[in-house]
Amino acid sequence: MSLQATVIAKFREHFGEAPAHVVRAPGRVNLLGEHVDYNDGFVLPIAIDRATWLAFSRSDTDQTTLRAVDLSEEISFSSATLSAKTDATGKPLPTWALYPAGVMWALKEAGLAIPALSGVYTSDVPQGSGLSSSAAVEMAFVLAWQTLGGWNLPPMERALLGKKAENKYVGVNSGIMDQFASACGEQDRLLHLDCRSLEWQTLPLPSDIAIIVADTKMRRALTSGEYNRRRANCEEAVRILREELPGITSLRDVDLETFNRLASRLPERVEKRARHVVEEIERSVHAILLLEQGDMVEFGKLLNQCHASLRDLYEVSIPELDTMVSVAQSLPGCYGARLTGAGFGGCTVNVVAREQADAFSSALAAGYEVQTGFPPEIYICSASRGAELI
Ligand code: GLA
Repeated sequence: MSLQATVIAKFREHFGEAPAHVVRAPGRVNLLGEHVDYNDGFVLPIAIDRATWLAFSRSDTDQTTLRAVDLSEEISFSSATLSAKTDATGKPLPTWALYPAGVMWALKEAGLAIPALSGVYTSDVPQGSGLSSSAAVEMAFVLAWQTLGGWNLPPMERALLGKKAENKYVGVNSGIMDQFASACGEQDRLLHLDCRSLEWQTLPLPSDIAIIVADTKMRRALTSGEYNRRRANCEEAVRILREELPGITSLRDVDLETFNRLASRLPERVEKRARHVVEEIERSVHAILLLEQGDMVEFGKLLNQCHASLRDLYEVSIPELDTMVSVAQSLPGCYGARLTGAGFGGCTVNVVAREQADAFSSALAAGYEVQTGFPPEIYICSASRGAELI
């Protein structure tokens, strides 16, 4: 059964009638520009063909009641208890419910109408896999409340509200990339966002490459604090560099030459983190030129460099991700491979010659299993549309 059919059937089962609406909001995979969105850099994600599906209707009561199909759990909360982060009985909200409740809270803060709703949702974006399952949930709920609330915001505004929910309610100090990709995705197009100006454009995905996601099946919790610590390191670098460069507001303002000149002023760990960011922003600028020229060989090399940098400088890789990447990089047809998303587990992204995609996928699965003893999950993904009312 498709996920759409599943949420409709489960909604009927729980609420005794058909849902009024269904929305779909995709996860994303990022090709280049990792850990730079919160440093005002550039990112190159696509929205993928895996998504959260949410079936919903306006509720007759003041309670929003949600059923998470994948967890077989249900929760009720109301606009009145949002700040307390409790459910209808006064118990603290479980982690999964913080995302929809956080969205409701952010919309309320923005003065938008948030009628109570009854909803059932499911997702095939694996949690903690680096594919933005949480942004997909957030974007599905923003769209649901937009549908019931009678207001209409452009996708980027919806993305910013989802980010606010995640930053201020869930407590992860993430950037805008994930919500942006989930809200603004376009079929068969790569997205290019300037995270400072929030200007974005789309580029055609070259037809002779495949984007392959390889899931190590190792999971991380983004709330673990490591992510927020990386961000704090970047902010510390800016504070110190500002003594010499008073005009800077983020690492985006520091080019590599200037950074090299001043790097010795930074504590070692801060220097490594900041070097990754400065070099990654340069890579992402270069990447656009290479894509426009159709030079996939050089583009792929940037992915490989990005992985080495995330492993050695930003220190967000794990051995299984390194294994997945090194097996991939040794295979025919592979232009480039690297971990994608925040790191600490999850998936790699591989840019591969399309005619070799199937052979590559089988060889990668076999090679990874031989080295780790675990079978991975590997799939060729396509760039999909952003969050939409079905
Ligand atoms: C997570 C965050 C994003 C971004 C990536 C790393 O996915 O939600 O904002 O920082 O990590 O690039």
